[in-house]
Amino acid sequence: MAQKHTYAVFGNPIKHSKSPIIHTAFAQQCDLELQYRAVRVELDDFARAARNFFDSGGAGLNITVPFKQEAFELADALSDRARRAGAVNTLSPLSGGRLGGDNTDGIGLVSDMVANLGWVLRDQRVLVLGAGGAVRGILEPVLRERPKELLIVNRTAERAQVLAQEFSDLGPVEGGAYSLIGARQFDLVINGTSAGLAGEMPDLPSSILTEHSCCYDMVYGAQPTVFMRWAAHHTAWAVADGLGMLVEQAAQSFYLWNKMRPETGPVIQQLRGVLAAA
Ligand code: ATR
Repeated sequence: MAQKHTYAVFGNPIKHSKSPIIHTAFAQQCDLELQYRAVRVELDDFARAARNFFDSGGAGLNITVPFKQEAFELADALSDRARRAGAVNTLSPLSGGRLGGDNTDGIGLVSDMVANLGWVLRDQRVLVLGAGGAVRGILEPVLRERPKELLIVNRTAERAQVLAQEFSDLGPVEGGAYSLIGARQFDLVINGTSAGLAGEMPDLPSSILTEHSCCYDMVYGAQPTVFMRWAAHHTAWAVADGLGMLVEQAAQSFYLWNKMRPETGPVIQQLRGVLAAA
């Protein structure tokens, strides 16, 4: 039988997960006793491992790559944003052994941009790069901020078109190939591609940037990403990586489980230190 207040993140790979550091720091701030582990789950074993975790008294589970869609399937009840995302990153026990699924990634991104960085989305022209699971997960909270326009571009144009169609009831969103950018300019550019992981840069004209443009990369690392370096080189007004998003999505999960809102700023700072020392 697991101890009370046992939490975990399931993923594969999981070695570099920062979630245990983040949740332990939140718990200290809030004077809570909890255990949070990072667990590497075999690729064909997610549903069994998750059920076993909750049957053993687990209080909450985060889910990362590649299991977010499977967690979506496993959940008995879904939040609206999880349903829209088609993915679940937070599972919580409900009565009668049922599991509730939520997705805090998008609200984590918006919180980081708006509350931490002081960026504005309302009435702004927003460009989103990529149309995979990461982008699907953020579109609902981004559109709820009511941007003036949102253009999704993707190497495989059709995926962006499909996403735009699916989310068109939430705001003025269009999607297609990079060529749709043409001579347009954007106030905010969000990189949701995995190109940077291979050291690549999506095919972007620097003319998209104005002197007021903000550029956000949803991934993070010890060094600025390829996209961040590109943005800084072309004198974007502000540039950020996804470390704040990571901490904010964790804070939202922590809130779902404990109904307490930890301060995220000190934890982002702490993680910067961890990354720099690694
Ligand atoms: P994730 O769940 O991280 O979103 P994914 O579903 O594999 O992963 O999506 C990765 C995204 O990065 C896709 O939008 C992909 O474009 P395609 O749909 O055309 O594959 C995009 N991507 C990956 N490498 C890229 C590159 N070198 N240039 C541009 N886009 C790239």
